Amino acid sequence: MTERSTDRRPERAFERPPGWELEYRDRRFRSGSGPGTDRRERRALRALLARAGARPGTWLDVPSGAGRMSELLPGPVVAVDHSLEILRAIRAPRGPRLRATAFELPFADASFAGVLCHRLLHHVPLAGDRVRILAELRRVSEGPVIASFFHAVSLQNARRALARRLRGKRRSSRGGITLRAFLRDLAAAGLELVAARPLLPFVSEQWLVLARPRRAAGTGSGPVDQGAKRD
Ligand SMILES: C[S@@+](CC[C@H](N)C(=O)[O-])C[C@H]1O[C@@H](n2cnc3c(N)ncnc32)[C@H](O)[C@@H]1O
Repeated sequence: MTERSTDRRPERAFERPPGWELEYRDRRFRSGSGPGTDRRERRALRALLARAGARPGTWLDVPSGAGRMSELLPGPVVAVDHSLEILRAIRAPRGPRLRATAFELPFADASFAGVLCHRLLHHVPLAGDRVRILAELRRVSEGPVIASFFHAVSLQNARRALARRLRGKRRSSRGGITLRAFLRDLAAAGLELVAARPLLPFVSEQWLVLARPRRAAGTGSGPVDQGAKRD
């Protein structure tokens, strides 16, 4: 299938009513299934960070949102988000914050020891756009890139698709792809998989992936670990 224009940017999924940033910071992960999701996301991120073994240095968190995951990163953090409101809502950490888009990061090559991109790519429906973002993450990271995506082969994704149908909605601002498709995105962005973890195998749509710049053939890339088998 051919892709059309790459102008549908994920920022549009975040045209939200006034006050959404406080709702996201104070309630989204503190009620209903939120606390469980938050706990599992932190566990997955800690595991990938331990595996990454990045050199000490400053990390980039993009999109930072209200800084929920920033505190887990092993070093000073620069927070980048497209929303000024949510950047203002960050309580901690107290590092630099910058309004920018993940499509064009205002940093020199290899500026960071590592980069986290958590809960953005499932809002990016076109592979070409995901690749552009992933290539930007790779460009500014000297070391690992950790990113999340929604896996299409999961109970949550099936439930979401069914609910959408029942409500007669054709489109959603969130979408799942397969791990195979995400690996293609990584490769096209010059990255290779190191490890991948679902929050809950086959149940959660949310996966976290640890990647690194693809090495030239013959330089030895080391073992790859996946929390669940490839699809
Ligand atoms: C679901 S929140 C995730 C925030 C945080 N990473 C977390 O896990 O709590 C997604 C964030 O992406 C931001 N965003 C949307 N499009 C963006 C873009 N192109 N570049 C940077 N940030 C973007 C939104 O403003 C929003 O704060």
